[in-house]
Amino acid sequence: MQINVNGQNHEVDVEDDMPLLWVLRDELGLTGVKYGCGIAQCGACTVHVDGLAVRSCQLTAGSLEEGAEVVTIEGLGTPETLHAVQEAWVEHQVAQCGYCQSGQIMQAASMLDLNPEPTDAQIDAVMSGNLCRCGTYPRIRAAVKAAAKKLQEA
Ligand code: FES
Ligand code: FES
Repeated sequence: MQINVNGQNHEVDVEDDMPLLWVLRDELGLTGVKYGCGIAQCGACTVHVDGLAVRSCQLTAGSLEEGAEVVTIEGLGTPETLHAVQEAWVEHQVAQCGYCQSGQIMQAASMLDLNPEPTDAQIDAVMSGNLCRCGTYPRIRAAVKAAAKKLQEA
């Protein structure tokens, strides 16, 4: 199948029922996306499909619409030009062990696309769906607010 990831087309030889998570990690070497639970509960595998946050452990390769655009943490910004959410994450030193963080950043970026000025309660409601065993939620909330401000100023 053809798959567009981070703005590039790829040809991959996979079964239709292979989860997108494994297409990204094993076929394309994009290991920023993480495997946590495999049952849609933790959010470690969050990527964007056509701009929306999805759990890539639950989406099969065969279920992707033709022309769908997948974005992973590797394609959200570049090392030279970070996405506003990535910048805010660095400024607020959000990560602890880091395992959940690419999923958190992808979830936050998608939330801010849909809701550029989320309240604390809205941030907590969305971001608590992405599990962080290190308990970084207070820093996540602060970073999301900082990113929202950066995006508005831009
Ligand atoms: S690995 Fe996909 S939600 Fe946990
Ligand atoms: S930073 Fe360790 S699980 Fe979130």
